[in-house]
Amino acid sequence: MNTAPNSTRSIRMHRSLGQPLPQYAEPEGFIIRALRPGEEEAWVRMKNAAFGEEGGRAWTIEDFHATFTREPCCDYKRVFVALKGDHMVATASAWEAHYGGPVGLIHWVGTHPKYRGHGLGYALTLRALEELSARGYADAYLNTSLAREPAVRLYKRLGFRILEP
Ligand SMILES: CC(C)(COP(=O)(O)OP(=O)(O)OC[C@H]1O[C@@H](n2cnc3c(N)ncnc32)[C@H](O)[C@@H]1OP(=O)(O)O)[C@@H](O)C(=O)NCCC(=O)NCCS
Repeated sequence: MNTAPNSTRSIRMHRSLGQPLPQYAEPEGFIIRALRPGEEEAWVRMKNAAFGEEGGRAWTIEDFHATFTREPCCDYKRVFVALKGDHMVATASAWEAHYGGPVGLIHWVGTHPKYRGHGLGYALTLRALEELSARGYADAYLNTSLAREPAVRLYKRLGFRILEP
């Protein structure tokens, strides 16, 4: 029997939106805004760069539509991106899941490797949390893995806690 801690274990994290959010600030030198129609291919390229180190299958535009535009809650104003000049470099989305009823979901957080460590992951996730709160969700959830240590640290800084299975 394997008794080693399973660092790749999938986890779900939760943060009540009833607790005040930290002050939002845009990292210097970047613009954070909602995704615009026509920017789907740029989002997919950026997503593939952000998650590319893991060696999984690269996404196509079809994956973008399956994940975002075909969802009942779809609204590009839920999908936040960071830009350095014209270059899309990071993202986080204020999505919806159904865990007994509709709840807020932090979805697809990623930063291009070249632009990590500038506070983009924190600012985008916080912006998405503000959006969930403004849309009336009482709770925010996210799904990740213990192996994503920088991501888990980031989410804990924003008040998320790991839910026991
Ligand atoms: C997780 C991820 C999104 C973080 O993105 P990021 O833009 O680098 O996040 P931040 O810059 O806000 O924080 C990263 C680190 O930089 C530090 N940092 C933030 N701003 C900084 C600044 N101005 N100067 C120096 N360091 C800074 C943070 O304290 C943090 O440090 P830590 O990792 O030691 O805790 C990124 O690593 C990533 O895309 N990983 C691969 C995809 C992934 O796992 N996504 C999550 C799926 S659930």
